[in-house]
Order: sequence, then structure tokens, then C-alpha cells
Amino acid sequence: MKTPIRVAVTGAAGQIGYALLPRIASGALFGPDQPVILHLIEIPHDKALSALRGVAMELDDCAFPLLSGIVQTSDLDAGFKDVNWALLVGAKPRGPGMERNDLLKDNGAIFVGQGQAIAKNAAADVRVAVVGNPCNTNAWICQQAAKGVPPERFTAMTRLDQNRAQAQLAQKAGVPITDVKGTLIWGNHSATQVPDFFHATIKGKPVTEVVADHDWLKTTFISTVQKRGAAIIEARGVSSAASAANALIDHVRDLHFATPQGEWRSICVTSDGSYGVPAGLISSFPIRSDGKGGWSIVQGLELNDFLKEKIAATVKELEGEREVVKALVS
Ligand code: NAD
Ligand code: LMR
Repeated sequence: MKTPIRVAVTGAAGQIGYALLPRIASGALFGPDQPVILHLIEIPHDKALSALRGVAMELDDCAFPLLSGIVQTSDLDAGFKDVNWALLVGAKPRGPGMERNDLLKDNGAIFVGQGQAIAKNAAADVRVAVVGNPCNTNAWICQQAAKGVPPERFTAMTRLDQNRAQAQLAQKAGVPITDVKGTLIWGNHSATQVPDFFHATIKGKPVTEVVADHDWLKTTFISTVQKRGAAIIEARGVSSAASAANALIDHVRDLHFATPQGEWRSICVTSDGSYGVPAGLISSFPIRSDGKGGWSIVQGLELNDFLKEKIAATVKELEGEREVVKALVS
């Protein structure tokens, strides 16, 4: 029997938590022979803690063979004690008509205390994935607050956007989703993100050869992916949850396992200055994982003027968000 991996999930009684936890406990995250211990973290409010108890009861009732234990808590020290992965989901979602960075003031402070508690309590190999919006800047806050934890351990999620882009291209070309490869998101998980079709392929051919309507690629495709979160809020009345939980499973697997040869995945990591993104910003890049805890930014992709202009705009937004929150961690 392998040693269990301890996974903390904040906001465990929320929508995403409800869709996420059974999948982690079932083995969909780390595989069918890897036990897990779940650390479920919620705010210290009766309603949230009661909902959390219900979620834990349901997990018990699934009788998952790989679920070796459940910690339920609103105490951050207990919640992050010895965890190998911290999945930071708990935060307020936006409502209709809001942009994700309208949440900065409400959500930013959460990630200071969580970063400090992770640094104090987590396992030496801890890795952190931030989902709570605006996730790039919240990941930056958490990273700054988590003194002593190596900066490369902090990531934020654009895998949902990558999956959305892949689905849009497959539908447009009328091909199975598996025929579309290399979809890529640059920048911020926001309406300025850059869904890149130039480096994607359909059945091994450049997307621009298969989809003749280049205007659609440059306009409708990009804006559909950029605004998909808002479209779901408009349709459902609440933000994406099943697809977000699914993308978080993908995101963590992308970092836990080695990336297949010749491929990349969209992950927000700390920039080293690649592709003109200022060092230190947490921005989405093409990433490869070595399956041993290390990752690297894929180098050498050519950026045309169209992409360069769009990446500059998303970088400007990230810099602006960092400016708004930097007092929280100074
Ligand atoms: P939700 O309101 O259903 O659940 C959020 C949960 O977090 C609640 O149970 C709440 O009590 C808890 N919470 C709030 N503050 C907390 C804290 N300080 N510590 C622990 N728990 C806390 O929201 P949701 O639909 O699950 O969404 C959660 C977040 O994920 C939102 O910010 C949303 O915008 C974001 N999101 C991001 C992506 C992405 O692609 N990055 C996708 C979907 C949603
Ligand atoms: C999403 O992309 O669905 C989430 O970030 C939720 C949102 O506010 O759009």
C-alpha cells in the first residue's frame, strides 16, 4: 500500500468542492492504487460547517477504497497540516455582470492567511493550485505570503479555458475532441486571456488549414472562450462547477504525471521572463511536467504580431491587478 497523499481543499462545501471531492477520493486524480487523505477546509460559519459535515458523510457513504481519512476543519493550521497538495478553491464567485477581478478586494485577503498557514504547516513537497478568482493574482498573493515555500510550487488554473478552446475547435471542425491538440491559453484567467489557435492542430494539421474561416478564429472563437465563464453564469445563475472541478483534476494530473512527448498544457506559473511576460507575474504558459515535481515553460514557440499584441494586453491587466493587491503582502 502506498503512503497516502494528503490533499487540502478549501471551500470544500461549495459547488466546485461537491463536484471535485468524489473524483479525488475515487482515484481519478492520482490513479487507482494511490490512497488519499482529504483535508476539507471551510469558513467557521455554522451553515458552511454543517454543509461540510454533510459532504463528509456522503464521502463516507461512497465507501471509496482509496479514501484513507477525512479531516474537517475551519482551522488553517489543522487544515494544511502535512498536506502535499493545497487546492485553493474557497472564495466568492462572481455574479452576473461582474468581471473576475471585481472579486479582488473580497477574495485577495483570504490568500494571505492561507499562504502563511501553508508555509507553517504543509509538507516539504507541498504544491498549491489556486482556483478561487481572480486566480492568477490570488496565487501571487499566496506565493508572497508563503515565505520559504519555493515560488515554483504555486500555480493557477487555465486548464478550464484550454478545455473550452479545444471543445470549440472540435465542434467548429466537426471532429472528435481527441483530434484537436495543442490548444493553449496565454496570460490571465480573465476576459483578456489569449486562446491561441495558431499553435493548435486538428488531425495533425494547423488549425488555420482546417478551419477556413480565419475571421471566426480571430473573433468568435477567441471571445467565446474568453467569455465562457460569464455565459455559464448567465445560463445557470451560478458559475461553472462541474467543468471547473474537472479542469482542476486535469491541472493537478498535468503536474503530477509527466506530459506526453511533444505536448504541452496550459498552466499559470511564475514567469521567468519568457515570451515577454515580466518575471514574477503568474501567467498562463505552455508547460511540460517531468512527472517528478518539476515543470518547464516550453520555449521557442513563434509569436506573431496578433498574439504579441493580445499577450501584452493580458500582461498589462495582470500588472494592474498586482498593483491593487500588493499592499496585502508588503
Ligand atoms: P461557492 O460559493 O459554491 O463555494 C465557495 C465555498 O468557499 C463556500 O462554501 C464558502 O463557504 C467557501 N469559502 C469562502 N471563503 C473561504 C475561506 N476563506 N476559506 C475556506 N473556504 C472558504 O463557489 P464555487 O462555485 O465553488 O467557486 C469557488 C471559486 O472558484 C470562485 O472564486 C469562482 O469564481 C472560482 N472559479 C474559478 C475557476 C477557474 O477556472 N479558475 C472556475 C470556476 C470557478
Ligand atoms: C469560469 O471561468 O467559469 C470561472 O472562472 C467562473 C467565472 O467567474 O467565470
